[in-house]
Amino acid sequence: MDKKLAKELNQQINEEMASAYIYQAMAAWLENKNYEGFAGWMKVQAKEETAHADKFYKFLLDRGEKIEFLAIGKPENDFASVLEIFEITLKHEKFITGRINLLSELAEKVKDRPAEIMLQWFITEQVEEEKNPAVMIEKLKLIKEGTGGFFYLDKEAGKRGK
Ligand code: FEO
Repeated sequence: MDKKLAKELNQQINEEMASAYIYQAMAAWLENKNYEGFAGWMKVQAKEETAHADKFYKFLLDRGEKIEFLAIGKPENDFASVLEIFEITLKHEKFITGRINLLSELAEKVKDRPAEIMLQWFITEQVEEEKNPAVMIEKLKLIKEGTGGFFYLDKEAGKRGK
């Protein structure tokens, strides 16, 4: 396999695991505030990220590449509001979309067809990954924290993955 592509795919395992770590820290903050629905939403998000990391992990193993686990930085543990959490989430997902696009362009450049096909799944997935927090942001902008509507949205958010 092309060395640069293999290195970037290995890096993506780290990016996905780091994403899980970021979202798990958000879930902890939300749980501390007793926003159990939003916390549940974030826990599902974190689990999805480890599943994404696993897809890259498996792909590299199937191609006979060596896996190298890299360091994960300390995530943000304090937030101003639930709205800020989802704004950070959207920003982070846009960063991940950029990473997927980079990987896809690289796979195309070196004509690695299996990698191109594998990455197509992620290109589609990232549409959903950006849409989910964007929808939540729109709703949160209409509702003040502490109101009945806010607690309803918390309850609705908790239905994710159930
Ligand atoms: Fe694995 Fe949220 O992108």
